[in-house]
Amino acid sequence: MTDLDAVVAAAETAFEQAAEPAALEQAKAAFLGKAGTLTEALKGLGKLEPDQRRAEGARINAAKDRIEAALRARREGLAAATLDAKLHEESLDVTLPGRRRGSGSVHPVMRTWRRVEEIFRSIGFEVADGPEIETDWYNFTALNNPLNHPARSMQDTFYVEGEDAHGLPLLLRTHTSPMQVRYARTHQPPIRVIAPGRTYRVDSDATHSPMFHQVEGLWIDDGISFADLKGVYTQFLHRFFETDQLRVRFRPSFFPFTEPSAEIDMMFDSGPLRGRWLEISGSGQVHPSVMRNFGLDPEVHTGFAFGSGLDRLTMLRYGIDDLRPFFEGDLRFLRQFA
Ligand code: FA5
Ligand code: MG
Repeated sequence: MTDLDAVVAAAETAFEQAAEPAALEQAKAAFLGKAGTLTEALKGLGKLEPDQRRAEGARINAAKDRIEAALRARREGLAAATLDAKLHEESLDVTLPGRRRGSGSVHPVMRTWRRVEEIFRSIGFEVADGPEIETDWYNFTALNNPLNHPARSMQDTFYVEGEDAHGLPLLLRTHTSPMQVRYARTHQPPIRVIAPGRTYRVDSDATHSPMFHQVEGLWIDDGISFADLKGVYTQFLHRFFETDQLRVRFRPSFFPFTEPSAEIDMMFDSGPLRGRWLEISGSGQVHPSVMRNFGLDPEVHTGFAFGSGLDRLTMLRYGIDDLRPFFEGDLRFLRQFA
């Protein structure tokens, strides 16, 4: 007869020694599997007398229960150990010093953008936003720049795939002036609005970037004149540069959408940029045809518009003579404005 106590003891030892679940299942097969010790013992019962068979069967089954209990215990033990190891591996030491994430800073051009909004809001202007992908009509035609007009060649344009309802190619707006049209067609005078945003031209040198920023300004009411433009813009420059020590000049120029038109130049009386005239903006009285495209009567409504380079304003504010570093993403440059 099999020494069942010895078999149970052997099973317990084998299970205990199994270091992981697969080994444990192997060990189990040696005792409870098809050719396992206990299974063999049970097969031997057939050769016994009925009385003996009953007693021996009960003994074997009791041994089987003990082995199964040992197996379950070991299974649970191994599962707990696995969980423990995993938890340990993933544990956080909350007493370690934190890993600091560098805090970013506002880009210098965005600072200018925000400042300009702040100043114009404070004198009663709304701030409007519009699409960077424009139709030919808003960017050119509505601004008195008909197809084939030579003024179109003043601006080298990035065209994009797709066309508008008239079959004309879509483009990246070359200035923020289409926002004059978009805003004036959806609002009633008095209109006082600025529209800052990104603009694009096939342009690239130290003071021209293919992507740059402008802010459009528009004031329309009855009786708004060039004198109002001069007053508002000069006041804006004094506040933007936080000084009265600068001169402003309105130099006659041409834009198809304004008449008369002027470039706005400025010069500092002190500081590193002192004594040099610098162009910062185009401007003028809204052209009567453009006023009609706004859906307004030029006999009733007059007004001025300007379009200034936000990058230029930023360069002047910080005394930088090259705008390319603004868009190169070199942190050594950008951190100086943090
Ligand atoms: C215009 O874009 C007109 N839409 C301005 C305007 C608006 C006139 C309303 C009248 C009424 P201009 O091309 O001159 O004009 O550009 C205006 C300003 O944008 C320039 O003075 C300059 O400061 C800036 N600018 C133009 N091109 C670039 C460029 N490639 N990179 C950076 N700044 C630029
Ligand atoms: Mg110009």
